[in-house]
Formats: sequence, structure tokens, C-alpha cells
Amino acid sequence: MDMQLKGSVCFVTGSNRGIGRAIVEELIKSGAAKVYAAARNTEALKELVAASKGKVVAVRLDVTSEEQIRAAARSAPDTQILINNAGIANYTGVISAADSKSARAEMEVNYFGLMNMTRAFAPILAKNEGGVLVNISSVGGLLGIPAFGTYCATKAAVHSLTQSVRGELSAQGTRVICVYPGPIDTDMAARLDIEKETPQQVAREIFLGIESGAEEVYPDKVSLDFAAKLKADAKGLEKAWSTMLPQPVEV
Ligand SMILES: NC(=O)c1ccc[n+]([C@@H]2O[C@H](COP(=O)([O-])OP(=O)(O)OC[C@H]3O[C@@H](n4cnc5c(N)ncnc54)[C@H](OP(=O)(O)O)[C@@H]3O)[C@@H](O)[C@H]2O)c1
Repeated sequence: MDMQLKGSVCFVTGSNRGIGRAIVEELIKSGAAKVYAAARNTEALKELVAASKGKVVAVRLDVTSEEQIRAAARSAPDTQILINNAGIANYTGVISAADSKSARAEMEVNYFGLMNMTRAFAPILAKNEGGVLVNISSVGGLLGIPAFGTYCATKAAVHSLTQSVRGELSAQGTRVICVYPGPIDTDMAARLDIEKETPQQVAREIFLGIESGAEEVYPDKVSLDFAAKLKADAKGLEKAWSTMLPQPVEV
């Protein structure tokens, strides 16, 4: 179905800061009728809710809790656009990490959290004329980068899940979009000393993708460059990024 943001009802996870918060703010500017802003700490959404004249509805949600996901889905039956944004990055290498705890924690949030949200909201999107599902992966989901190898694996899992879900949900008319950001200026990327795109620009590129019928969104210069180089010379790109190694673990 064609989806316009104006008048739409959206649900955004991890919306108290970073890209998620920018998405909520930009959705309101774009004329969304209602935005369910989900966060572990809804106190952080107080001002946003108050300023929105009833358009932003705070939802308490830790995406690692299946019980909270079920409650969130019950509270948002009119959702037309689900944006799975919540995520963590522990900057651990696959080999250099002390143990597998960091990798498991990242999988719990980035993969299983997103998967359970998608499963819980698929019937809701179906009832609302199919709707749109947006999953936030990363350029790290297209290419493993040693400095955050455990995180990249979770985002590759999101990339793969999104492709499968696109097929599974096509019969109910749900459009499925995957977003592959490069470095974005949020807390998550604070330690990266490179040029970063603004979270507001990422939000606007996602909206263009939703309204134009895109299946993949590359919202910044680095991600566009990644996409082009992956097509032209995937092994060359892997080699170029293979020297970005994890920080030594303190003992
Ligand atoms: N920044 C980048 O360079 C970049 C690049 C590519 C992809 N991404 C992806 O973009 C998305 C947003 O990242 P960001 O840059 O905005 O990061 P961020 O500033 O660190 O914000 C992460 C958000 O996810 C929430 N979150 C973490 N664990 C959660 C959980 N268990 N349940 C619910 N919410 C949880 C956080 O809530 P709390 O405040 O409660 O922790 C916060 O709202 C992530 O999926 C990330 O992987 C980011």
C-alpha cells in the first residue's frame, strides 16, 4: 500500500534519545497523527509528550521483555508503521572479548528484541491495511568490522531477518524496509572520531523511503559509499575495513 506520514500512526522503539528520538520529533513535524514513543525510561519522554498536544504517547518498553512487548502491542492496536530502532553496541571484538556475554547481550536487544517486536506487531499491521515495517540495521550488517564484530553479527542477523520477513509479510500487504546507517551523531557513536550524519537527517531519509516505496535506505554519505563499493568490489571493501581493530581489553 502507499503510505503517507501525514495522518499516520507510528510506533518507535528506543525513542528517548538518539535516532529514535529524532524519528519521533520529525514524525510530528511531518504531520503524523499519533506516535507511540517507546522507551525503557518513559520519564525521559515527559517534555516531548507534553509539547505534542496528545500526539506522542509514551509506552514503557524494554525490548528484551516479551511480557512488555505483548503489553505494548495491546496498547497500540492502531499502529500502521512500526520502526524497530532500539539497539546497543558494546564495541567488542569476536576474539578479543573476555567472554561471550557482550555478544549475547547485543543479540538479545538487537536481534531477539527486534524479532519479537516484529512477531507481536505483524497481526496489527495486517489489520491496518498492511502498513510498513522499518528495521534499523547498520552498514555493519552488510560487512563485518573487527572493532565491533559482535555488534556487526547482530546487524547482519537483522538484515537477514528483514529479507525473510519481507517474503512472509508480502501476502498481508506489509511493506518491509531495512535501514543501513553509517556513523550517526548519537551516544552510540560518541567514541568514533569520524564525520557523522545527524539523526534528524536519518529520520528524514527513512521517511523518504517509507513514502517512495523503497526496500532499502542508506541514509548518509558513508552508507551510500558502502552500498556502491559492496556492489563494485566487496572483497576490497572488507580488506579496507579489516584494519579497524577492537580496542585492547583491559586486564
Ligand atoms: N549511531 C550510529 O552510528 C548508528 C549506526 C548504525 C546503526 N545504528 C542503529 O540505530 C539505532 C539507534 O541507535 P542510536 O545511535 O540512536 O543509539 P543510542 O543513542 O545509543 O540510543 C539507543 C536507544 O536504544 C534504546 N535501548 C537500548 N536497549 C534497549 C532495550 N533493551 N529496550 C528498549 N530500548 C533499548 C536506548 O534506551 P536507553 O536510553 O534506555 O538505553 C536508546 O533509546 C540502533 O539500532 C543502532 O544500532 C546506529
